[in-house]
Amino acid sequence: MVSLQMASIVLLALLASFARAIDNNPLQDFCVAVPDLQAAVFAVNGKACKNPNLVNADDFYKAAGFNTPVGGVNLTSVGLVTKLLDVNQFPGLNTMGLSIGRIDFEPNGLIPLHTHPRGSEVVYVLEGTVYVGFVSSNPLNGQKNKLFSKILNPGDAFVFPVGLVHFLYNVGRTNALVFAAFSSQNPGFVSLANSAFGSDPPISQDVLTKAFRLDKQVIDYLQSQIWPFI
Ligand SMILES: *[C@@H]1O[C@H](CO)[C@@H](O)[C@H](O)[C@H]1NC(C)=O
Repeated sequence: MVSLQMASIVLLALLASFARAIDNNPLQDFCVAVPDLQAAVFAVNGKACKNPNLVNADDFYKAAGFNTPVGGVNLTSVGLVTKLLDVNQFPGLNTMGLSIGRIDFEPNGLIPLHTHPRGSEVVYVLEGTVYVGFVSSNPLNGQKNKLFSKILNPGDAFVFPVGLVHFLYNVGRTNALVFAAFSSQNPGFVSLANSAFGSDPPISQDVLTKAFRLDKQVIDYLQSQIWPFI
């Protein structure tokens, strides 16, 4: 009887750990990722590990080019250049629950509404003036979702809780430089605009007109805008 109870507790614990949306703790000192194409099996908490005997210091090092925006993803439509170093670029991050990014904003540059489904994010402003905010999940008591926002100056930090919708907007007259750290090796990026209006195939007009209480013409217009929105 006792062992049956023990077995169900162990099973529940296992299920709970599989159901976690955020990164698991590492189960060993390190687990340098091998490229997806070479991996037959993924580790539960990340990618398959390189043979530890073949791991060397280079596996924990990345010439990230974080001193400059050059070589980043240039999103001219929203006025910013971004560099993200997650486990896909930096295999040593595998199972560490960490990643890091750099964002260079032009004046009025905007990271539109988005979420990271697998990681909280802390941002740190080095240059410029950045309006940031996140919105709470739907409250149960009939109140409105709450916006938590700040205007950040050099030296300021702000945290976006995992999964919540947030944005960053350069409200200064100069460029802005922001670094971001994530509590996931692969935080993911969900753009609200792309999810609603840029999916392939598109979500049906009926769903979108009802969901946003908009005319079909407005939905057509939003769907016709250049992809990606960010
Ligand atoms: C991004 O693109 C804009 C427009 O083409 C260009 O002026 C800017 O120099 C580019 N920035 C980087 C870092 O590549």
